[in-house]
Amino acid sequence: MTAQAGICAEPNLHAHYLMFEIRPHRFEAVRAALAEIPALWQGLRQDYPDAAFSGVVAVGNEAWDELYPGARPAELMPFPAQQQGQRIAPETPFDLFFQLRADRLDVAYIAVQRVMALLAGKVELQEERQGFRYLDGRDMTGFVDGTENPQGDDRAEVALVGEGRFADGSYLHVQRYRHKMTRWQKLAVKAQEDIYGRTKSDNIEYESARKAPTAHTRRTSLKDAAGNGMEILRQSMPWGTAAAQGLVFVSCCHTPLHFTRMLENMYQPDDAGHFDHLTLFTQAETGAAFFAPSEEWLAMQGDL
Ligand code: HEM
Repeated sequence: MTAQAGICAEPNLHAHYLMFEIRPHRFEAVRAALAEIPALWQGLRQDYPDAAFSGVVAVGNEAWDELYPGARPAELMPFPAQQQGQRIAPETPFDLFFQLRADRLDVAYIAVQRVMALLAGKVELQEERQGFRYLDGRDMTGFVDGTENPQGDDRAEVALVGEGRFADGSYLHVQRYRHKMTRWQKLAVKAQEDIYGRTKSDNIEYESARKAPTAHTRRTSLKDAAGNGMEILRQSMPWGTAAAQGLVFVSCCHTPLHFTRMLENMYQPDDAGHFDHLTLFTQAETGAAFFAPSEEWLAMQGDL
């Protein structure tokens, strides 16, 4: 089957993210509209071949059963919300998520217009955010983001379900983080580097022995009981307004388990009381779990 191109896409310059609620009694109409999505993605690539456009639509955990009553991805479940005092990663469910990416801002916006026309009258727009490449692929905290992402063929292996009716689909987790920039900027560069476990300007990974137990890259590098790496493919991009800035975090994986373990490891203290100190400098404001089905699933309205 054919994965939606935005799941494994290489980084782009621009993104537009849309979150929708499906209106009551409009699920059938939305299912029929989503059948047009593979052609809509293809049309954008054909119309603007220089823009490296890629799209993804993903269906929220709570909306799945009403939209596609025939079958449900086996592991689709609610977002694994976290709360440890002031440090929280809330669940804010949405029915539909669109990630529209391109190397041209106008093309990303044309994609927004086409999606809005397709869904007119069937959905309520709940959230929209524009993402952009910042410097050489850095997060707004100033550190290069995405370096340890799987590369080449490994991207599909990590991000896509391997077989069955849901083959070439992906479990997505999306969070909008708002950074506590004033607090972050008060830290010395060395303290910032210790929080990530990487150097800032030249993006070199610390040796393992030098990484603090609270370092972000230590707490998110996980292995399963058999010693295999538990990886995700991150498709995050920075966002910013005059007043605030942060990261739209997007995880794509063949199972929701890897993201869930990482998020728990970031927020929940271990036996020694250590947690991810990045969570002291950024606040998750949204969090939702989705499944992005294959293009064939969308086109056949789940009748595969
Ligand atoms: C505001 C939130 C976040 C920011 C700014 C951020 C930023 C970064 C940066 C700068 C790196 C190092 C470079 C790289 O390999 O990409 C990194 C690594 C990583 N992050 Fe995040 N991250 C955030 C949230 C998360 C979340 C929520 C997860 C998963 C639950 C996560 C999982 C990872 C993983 C798996 C790595 C690679 C670790 C390694 O193998 O070295 N990140 N992140």
